[in-house]
Amino acid sequence: MNAECDYLFKLLLIGDSGVGKSCLLLRFADNKYSDGYVCTIGVDFKIRTIQLNGKIVKLQIWDTAGQERFHTITSSYYRGAHGVILVYDVSSLESFVNVKQWLVEVEHRGSETTDKVLVGNKSDLVTERMVDPLMAKEFADSLGIPFLETSAKNAINVEQVFLTIAAEIRKHLRCEPFSAKDLPALKINSSPVKMACGGCC
Ligand code: GTP
Ligand code: MG
Repeated sequence: MNAECDYLFKLLLIGDSGVGKSCLLLRFADNKYSDGYVCTIGVDFKIRTIQLNGKIVKLQIWDTAGQERFHTITSSYYRGAHGVILVYDVSSLESFVNVKQWLVEVEHRGSETTDKVLVGNKSDLVTERMVDPLMAKEFADSLGIPFLETSAKNAINVEQVFLTIAAEIRKHLRCEPFSAKDLPALKINSSPVKMACGGCC
């Protein structure tokens, strides 16, 4: 096993264009924020290591473009994701309604065991709010997934999102023997990392 970490989790940020996926990742990975909008071209990724119940967890976070024109590229990144962060913008009802469509994508392209978390970003836009948090919570409850509101701008709840999805994945982790077929997805800097069991069994 890679000595640097106990687990490697691959996460995917999805949701409509402009909801703040890249800003959430920038806030989480580099603690930075920018008001200017630079649309993601295809996919981008960052890595951050966290501590979870005494284990070192490396999060490989893939940030996908929300724009339809990148769909062919982004859809190939669902496979092998351990967790998906479904993002909408609390000031855009359309982006919330579209979460259902993003869920269909996860079902088609990902696996049944992919953990999910629902995130309403831009909670700082108090006067522009269009999505009732109670409605969003009800929706998340109906799916049996956690729900959080965040502000990448004001650094509210951003850490919590990534800790929550990591904890969900860790909770559902089956202690399977490491299999050769998993190798391509589990490489960091060319060294294989054992994802399935970090000494929990
Ligand atoms: P695509 O890459 O096109 O899919 O968009 P995206 O979801 O990555 O959106 P991005 O992170 O680029 O943010 C879009 C715009 O929303 C930018 O102008 C950000 O500054 C703004 N934004 C992001 N997060 C927040 C937030 O928490 N609050 C506010 N007020 N604005 C935000
Ligand atoms: Mg982006």
